[in-house]
Amino acid sequence: MNKALLATLAATTLLGGCNQGPPAPDKTIQQLMAEDVQPTAEVYWNAVGHVSELVDGEVVERDFRPETEADWQRTRDAATRMVELANLLTEPGYTEGRGEDWVQFSNSLAEVARLAEQAADSRDPEQVFEVGGTMYSVCSACHQVYPPAEGLPEDAPVGAPPA
Ligand code: HEC
Repeated sequence: MNKALLATLAATTLLGGCNQGPPAPDKTIQQLMAEDVQPTAEVYWNAVGHVSELVDGEVVERDFRPETEADWQRTRDAATRMVELANLLTEPGYTEGRGEDWVQFSNSLAEVARLAEQAADSRDPEQVFEVGGTMYSVCSACHQVYPPAEGLPEDAPVGAPPA
């Protein structure tokens, strides 16, 4: 079976109701952000970083990064999905009533998500970290122009990327 056919089959299966599939076209922007965009970004952001952990009463500093092939694949998949989500944002259901800048922000997100894919392809943790920061800035830029009515949840991108 060739790859294209496999992909088609996979897409069809996903459309059949699994919630990993393309988001329902009738999702509100809030749902799309909360259920798809944010979790997808988190997979990418959480791939590379730094933690201070308490081990036996002592603070231990630890860097983490994708190690296994599966780790890298997960990171890359999140980037690929972000491209799809960014493209979805430019569809009429989401652009209606928005300015031209809406499409620009969405295109920037797609662009940075493609860079994110490339960073994962290069197996370069520092690049993944950097592009992750840029992605965060793009999210924030759109949120500054189109602020959520209710305010953003605490972990959502507002302002500068985390250091
Ligand atoms: C093209 C504009 C745009 C981009 C780009 C964008 N967002 Fe949003 N986001 C919005 C809007 C608009 C809302 C608020 C909708 C409302 O409440 O009116 C929102 C709301 C949210 C929320 C709150 C959802 C809720 O529970 O109501 C989260 C979380 C979020 N965005 C995460 C992200 C992340 C992460 C990124 C980047 C990877 C991102 N957004 C990129 C426009 C954008």
